[in-house]
Amino acid sequence: MLERIRTPCIITIFGGTGDLTHRKLIPALYNMSVEELLPDELMIVGVGRRPLSTQEYRDSLLESVTKHSRHPIRTDIWERFKERIHYFRMNLSESEGFSSLKTWLESLDEKAGTQGNRLFYLSVAPSLFEPIVLHLYRHGMADNLGAWQRVIIEKPFGRDLRSAAFLNHVIESVFPPQNIFRIDHYLGKEMLRSLMVIRFGNAVFERIWNSRYIENIQITAAETVGVENRAGYYESSGALRDMLQSHLLQLLALVAMEPPISLDIKAIRDEKVKFLKSLLKMDDGLFKNNIIRGQYGEGSIDGNTIRGYRQEKGIDPASNTETFIALRILAGNFRWGGMPFYLRTGKRMPEKTTYVVLEFKSMPEILYFKEYKGMQPNLLEIRIHPSEGISFSFNAKKPGSGNEISTVRMDYCQNCSYENNSPESYERLLADALRNDQTLFTSWEEIEASWNFVDSIARSWEKETVSFPNYTPGTWGPTASNQLLERYGHHWWNL
Ligand code: BG6
Repeated sequence: MLERIRTPCIITIFGGTGDLTHRKLIPALYNMSVEELLPDELMIVGVGRRPLSTQEYRDSLLESVTKHSRHPIRTDIWERFKERIHYFRMNLSESEGFSSLKTWLESLDEKAGTQGNRLFYLSVAPSLFEPIVLHLYRHGMADNLGAWQRVIIEKPFGRDLRSAAFLNHVIESVFPPQNIFRIDHYLGKEMLRSLMVIRFGNAVFERIWNSRYIENIQITAAETVGVENRAGYYESSGALRDMLQSHLLQLLALVAMEPPISLDIKAIRDEKVKFLKSLLKMDDGLFKNNIIRGQYGEGSIDGNTIRGYRQEKGIDPASNTETFIALRILAGNFRWGGMPFYLRTGKRMPEKTTYVVLEFKSMPEILYFKEYKGMQPNLLEIRIHPSEGISFSFNAKKPGSGNEISTVRMDYCQNCSYENNSPESYERLLADALRNDQTLFTSWEEIEASWNFVDSIARSWEKETVSFPNYTPGTWGPTASNQLLERYGHHWWNL
């Protein structure tokens, strides 16, 4: 059970009428209020351009919370919770708006006892990150004198290393590093937080967590949805920048990093950075054909016609943006030398699921085992979403049979054994930012290392032509993705 947060604060959400605020941020704060985690002196201000009254804003949020909250809505709690919420209308590109916002927040401080502490949440188009941060600076809203001011930056953090470095420079020139929270919501997921305990708390795993015993490691993050209403953003990002640069590489780093010397935030971040830096780059010719990109075409799922990516609203009909990526990558370090990591992510896949599979090396084909039929490699599956848990499968003799083997699966289902669903990542991450704990947020060095790697892929793509669309909605992506693994004697494990 998490402890109640003690610090008074106003959370100001830039992008207050946006999708993320409606689907994730306000439901997360509502759930925190159900669990009595919020201090009395905590206010939430949604900032947006739309002409809405606070009452209309609250009503629209009620609808979203009813739809998206983990805990069912309770009228008594909502009635109290909604009193915390306010709406402030302004144009984010105009300086005057910031000066009125400042005065208005100060008057709210007076009424609510929030003491000048601010958590600014930038849930806006990336092009607005820099101007907002600079306006906060110019209007004395980030001087950290007496009270604290922190900033949460949503992804994408840049579009490549250069733009990310520039953005970082601007933010760090306004906020001290300890007040900058670069969010990657995957890091708030229960099973990612559990990964270090699974790895370093179990001698049976840690001792064999290396290329001597493991044949390959696979990470899958599949989604059934298409691009939805995010054409503008997605066209310039694609699966590479949207999912791989952030979520998948973070997950991979936690699976593969060396044990940190302590649970100190710096110690953990250093190990993640070291691992990310050890990834062999894609543009040195070693990895030709090791990256598969795809884009979904038209199709039908369960009798419903599905538009192809190029036919989606706001998408260029000749778009070459990838909605799927699969790759085989190698890390140049002692633990993993020569062992492939296979990563894949895509939209319009058969199911919404995120998991990691460790495939252990097969037993040698000695005479004794040859006589048994049905031997499978041992698998350790770490399920992240929607089901959370771990399974280990191993071979045993089928009782009563001659030489037949059955694969037995030991299963721990984490979200079966706790009463409520696990807290959503945004609940955990907002609580951490309010408590000033950066452990589950990404450091600039991690972002720098992951862009370095991702830029090498983007560069290698510039030299190639691509023929899209190349996969049907409701499938596991282009056939080339399966062929990639087959070339190395492997196959994807679809859990
Ligand atoms: C977001 C991406 O960061 O993560 C989306 O921008 C994606 O494109 C989403 O749909 C997936 O998150 P989750 O938690 O549903 O796996």
